[in-house]
Amino acid sequence: MGHAELTLREESTTRRISLDEYWMPFTPNRDFKSDPKIVVRAEGMHYWTDRGEAIIDAASGLFCCAAGHGRREISEAVGAQLARLDFIAPFLRGHGGQFEFARRLAEITPGDLNRIFFVSSGSESVDTAMKIALAYHQARGQAGRTMFVSRERAYHGVNFGGVALSGLVNNRRRFGPGLPGIVHMRHTHLPENRFTRGEVTHGVELAEDLQRAVALFGAENIAACFVEPIAGSTGCLVPPRGYLRRLREICDQHGILLVFDEVITGFGRTGQAFAAQSFDVTPDLLTMAKALTNGAVPMGAVAVSERIHDTVLAAAADGAIEFFHGHTYSGHPAACAAGLATLDIYRDEALFDRARALAPYFLDAMFALADIPVVADIRGYGLLAGIDVHGDGVAGRRGHLLQKRLFENGLHLKTTGDAAIVAPPLIAEKAHVDDIADILRRTLSAL
Ligand SMILES: Cc1ncc(COP(=O)(O)O)c(C=O)c1O
Repeated sequence: MGHAELTLREESTTRRISLDEYWMPFTPNRDFKSDPKIVVRAEGMHYWTDRGEAIIDAASGLFCCAAGHGRREISEAVGAQLARLDFIAPFLRGHGGQFEFARRLAEITPGDLNRIFFVSSGSESVDTAMKIALAYHQARGQAGRTMFVSRERAYHGVNFGGVALSGLVNNRRRFGPGLPGIVHMRHTHLPENRFTRGEVTHGVELAEDLQRAVALFGAENIAACFVEPIAGSTGCLVPPRGYLRRLREICDQHGILLVFDEVITGFGRTGQAFAAQSFDVTPDLLTMAKALTNGAVPMGAVAVSERIHDTVLAAAADGAIEFFHGHTYSGHPAACAAGLATLDIYRDEALFDRARALAPYFLDAMFALADIPVVADIRGYGLLAGIDVHGDGVAGRRGHLLQKRLFENGLHLKTTGDAAIVAPPLIAEKAHVDDIADILRRTLSAL
């Protein structure tokens, strides 16, 4: 492997750094290191590179920075918290921030999802939700329910539970057989839904795949059904109208828990606090991360229905630990401080309402790109859109080139395969949407 170095210009200093030692995640390392994209600063809707170029953030970092970048309220809250109490063991000890943050989250979660388990990432929230589902069924005397149903094209993080639920082949194929007892429903990306804005018209019948799993394996063996209400990482697949409601009905009929993975869709992305509220379907468990702290401190959480929480707690003997699970950084003081400051911003600036108000303008701008020959499909809901480009014969190659060219032209977003995912911070103005659409048009037209 060759040696790679970079002269980094940061805050009026220049230094030479080696790029060899850091193994970058989900990145073609050799490609990156031959042409590094380094960011040194962020504020509001923009990043700045080490070359001083402004880059508009069309991805909220990675679906994290819903309140925009460089929020002083958050950094000051985190700094003050670390100075006051930097760390306390999360097992058998507590601090005020954990309880306050859980209480504030419970105010915005749907239904009775008022019990909050803290973790440090979206992946951990998914594996935690799987364990809660198993613990709940055991506690109610249905220990045979150990299977999970998820969906093709799903992304549920990178831990072994989430990988087993995942429906993206590259995230699975190198990592062995994974967990047993996972069944996948078909995805809902149908050709007849191409260029549909909002909930798609075709495919509600695909929810019956859950019914087929019940028919094949027996409801008494199925613990939970996991779905992203809008499949995000795979390129923004908005559900067919009535699909989530039908999943809810089938789960209720058979005692299966419904889990919404809202790691991307949570915190205003769909115009409400959670997609569960936008689609008016309440799950039993809801996973979240990313915009939970505006991306400032790593954190995830599982919101749990009171019924499930109470059942698990009641099944344990007096004085016994009810749930043998947790992380050193569960409910970390700095993460809770960041989360509380973030929720204050969301509330004080009414950012979820703002996202809902901006969504029609944003979706108009995205769907206006449909005339560009390389564009194969566009989907969108709220401030989230997916744009597929026609492949060039090698899956994902053109998508990868697209995100590189976009960055060179001053725009940051994530591509998965040949799909670009657009998810601007909720603080975006119409002028920012115009800038994003202009750079997309210019870059897509020249691809
Ligand atoms: C729906 C969903 N679940 C889980 C995850 C994993 O989150 P993390 O990368 O924080 O582990 C992601 C990340 O994009 C996600 O989109």
